[in-house]
Amino acid sequence: MVWFVVRQYPMNAPRATPSAKARYIELLKSALACRLYPEPPVPIELLWCKRGWFKRSLARVLAPAFGMMGAKLCIEPNYTQEQLDSGTVWRLLAVSLISPRRMDNLCFCVETVLAERIPGDLIETGVWRGGACIVMKGLLAINAITDRKVFVADSFQGLPPPDAQKYPADAGDTHHKVPYLAVSRARVEDNFRRFGLLDEQVVFLEGWFKDTLPKLRSRQLALMRLDGDMYESTMDALTHLYPKLSAGGFCIIDDYDIRNCRMAVDDFRKSREVTDPLVDIDGHGCYWRKGVAL
Ligand SMILES: C[S@@+](CC[C@H](N)C(=O)[O-])C[C@H]1O[C@@H](n2cnc3c(N)ncnc32)[C@H](O)[C@@H]1O
Repeated sequence: MVWFVVRQYPMNAPRATPSAKARYIELLKSALACRLYPEPPVPIELLWCKRGWFKRSLARVLAPAFGMMGAKLCIEPNYTQEQLDSGTVWRLLAVSLISPRRMDNLCFCVETVLAERIPGDLIETGVWRGGACIVMKGLLAINAITDRKVFVADSFQGLPPPDAQKYPADAGDTHHKVPYLAVSRARVEDNFRRFGLLDEQVVFLEGWFKDTLPKLRSRQLALMRLDGDMYESTMDALTHLYPKLSAGGFCIIDDYDIRNCRMAVDDFRKSREVTDPLVDIDGHGCYWRKGVAL
C-alpha cells in the first residue's frame, strides 16, 4: 500500500511571519509602554507615592532636600513582571498607563471597527500622556484611513476636585491631588510628534469633560474609550458620547475596577436600559459593543 502525505505548504515554504503592519504595531506598543529598554531609576517621590505612610513621608522630606542641592534621589524600581503586566505601577517614561492586555484590546477594537466598517471617529476621554490615542492614530495611519479622526479629550491639568453634592460617589476622591496625573497638552502633542503621528486627524479637546464633550464636533463615533477614573468623568463621557456611538461600535471602560467608575457605568446602563453584555478585559477594564450580542 502507498501512503500519500498531503502537505499544506510546499516543503521549503517560509513559515508564516507577522506582517509589516503587525510588527509596526507591536513595536509601537512596546515603545509606548517603555518595554524596549530596562526601566531607569525612578525618583523616590514617584516610586514611593503609593507606599505606606512612613515611606511617603520620608520621600516628602528627602526629595526637596536633594532638590535644593540640584540633585534627584532615584531608586532602581525592580518591578515584578506581574506589576508591569497589570498596569498598576506608575512608570517614569511610559507614554500610557494601560496594561498590555488593555492595549491589545484597544487594537482589537480598532481593527474590528475598520474590518467591519463601523462608521465614525475614535475618542479617548482621559489621555494622560496620550499613549492609547497614539496607538489609535498609528492604526489609522498604517491602514491609510484618512476620513476618521482621533479625539484626544483631557483637562491637561489632571482630574477635577470631587463635586460631592452632585456626585456623592466621588466624595473624598483624591485623584485631583496627584501631580503625576496632570500632563500638559504640549507634552501630549510632543509625544504624538515623536512617533510621527501628529496631523489634522488628531483633534485635541482641552478642558473638563462636562464643558468640552457636549460641543464635540463629530456626528458619529465608532469607538469611545473612557479613562477618567471618577464617577463624574465617566458619567459625563457616557451621557454626551454614547448617543453618538454607532451600532456595532465599542464602548471601552478602563477603570471598571474603580468603585466610582463602576457605579457610573452601572447607573448609566440601567437608566438607558443598555443590556449589551460587558466583557472583562484583564480584571480592571471592560467593554461592550452597542447592539451586538458577543
Ligand atoms: C488615568 S489617566 C488616563 C490614562 C491614559 N488613558 C493612558 O493611556 O495612559 C486619567 C486622565 O483623565 C483626565 N481626566 C479625568 N477626569 C477628567 C475630567 N472630568 N475632565 C477632563 N480630564 C479628566 C486626567 O487629566 C488624566 O489625564
